[in-house]
Amino acid sequence: MSVRAILTEGGRHFVTALSIGSLTGDKVYQELFDLTTEAEMGHIALSRSADLVVVAPATADLIAKLASGLAPDLASTALLATDKPVLLAPAMNVRMWNHAATQRNVAALMADGIHVVGPNDGEMACGEFGPGRMAEPDEIADRIASLLGAETLLSGFKALVTAGPTHEPIDPVRFIANRSSGKQGYAIASALAQAGANTVLVSGPVELAPPPGVKLVKVETARQMWSACEVELPADIAVCSAAVADWRPVNAANAKLKKRDAVPNIALTENPDILAGLARHGAKRPSLVIGFAAETDDLIANAKAKLASKGCDWIIANDVSTGIMGANRNRVHLLSASGTDSWPEMSKTDVATRLVARIAEKLGKHAA
Ligand code: CTP
Repeated sequence: MSVRAILTEGGRHFVTALSIGSLTGDKVYQELFDLTTEAEMGHIALSRSADLVVVAPATADLIAKLASGLAPDLASTALLATDKPVLLAPAMNVRMWNHAATQRNVAALMADGIHVVGPNDGEMACGEFGPGRMAEPDEIADRIASLLGAETLLSGFKALVTAGPTHEPIDPVRFIANRSSGKQGYAIASALAQAGANTVLVSGPVELAPPPGVKLVKVETARQMWSACEVELPADIAVCSAAVADWRPVNAANAKLKKRDAVPNIALTENPDILAGLARHGAKRPSLVIGFAAETDDLIANAKAKLASKGCDWIIANDVSTGIMGANRNRVHLLSASGTDSWPEMSKTDVATRLVARIAEKLGKHAA
């Protein structure tokens, strides 16, 4: 594998071009309008010359530039111009990482399909402790390997993912919904597509950009979600991450309910259970059906019960009492007939990547 490095102005305060170049065995690119660089390889060609672009460490400043589409120097220009996958390994002070602006920027970049590894919790150069420490080089190397090797891992497989909440109308202006952001499901659809699966994402109303390379089917209600899923069968893999409303009003009013009238008594009826429906579909059952269990109490016991009652193969259990709905990180447990595998807290993108690696393994595919 050959590595070509771009050294930023900030990076030059820590390492020299000479030391980086002696490791890569190649020229180290530094300036946007360097005449020799432009004569040898224009900055646009440089941005396309690799299979993957890795930013390690990714500073708050670089992340902000990339999230806003700014390109004042060679590194940010290459990142904006590249048509290849991008992996960021953020490293910064814990408060800078936790700052709303950084979190907003990272969320926007992840929604754009940019990969993020870390940061990890730990002691930092500034003496503070918390998330902000760059992922270990081994973790970054693993991620690079899975991103490069993953591209064809699931080619030939069709994947169906549900995500987001559903909206169940009460009248033309009101509906029953929940706090699901859709981030985990979108990350899973994105990871499946990147692994080469023909991926269909059936999504309830969310504020997220469509993941690249995914067929997005937008729906509002549970019944629409079920119909959209059925149309997409047969599929090899189904991942039901949507927070489907369990109940809908029996009769949605055609006109807005008025306050001056009596407090409405809204009769509810049960919605179709999409996960159970797919898991018990008979001939068209996907060979691997994965559900989620969003629980606030007795996480593992409830998730085990759900694994049995829904008839699916795996359940990803997560504790939703801890504010993970809408957050960028998740702590999940993978339950299957062979037991429970508890994963450490990680970004939702990392959960998705890890899940896709497990799916590929289950389907007999292994990363190179
Ligand atoms: N699910 C579904 N259709 C429904 C309800 C849930 O496909 N009508 C799926 C979810 O996408 C998730 C799993 O079932 O994969 C579990 O969802 P969850 O909300 O945790 O459980 P429920 O079945 O709704 O049960 P409860 O709310 O009582 O915990």
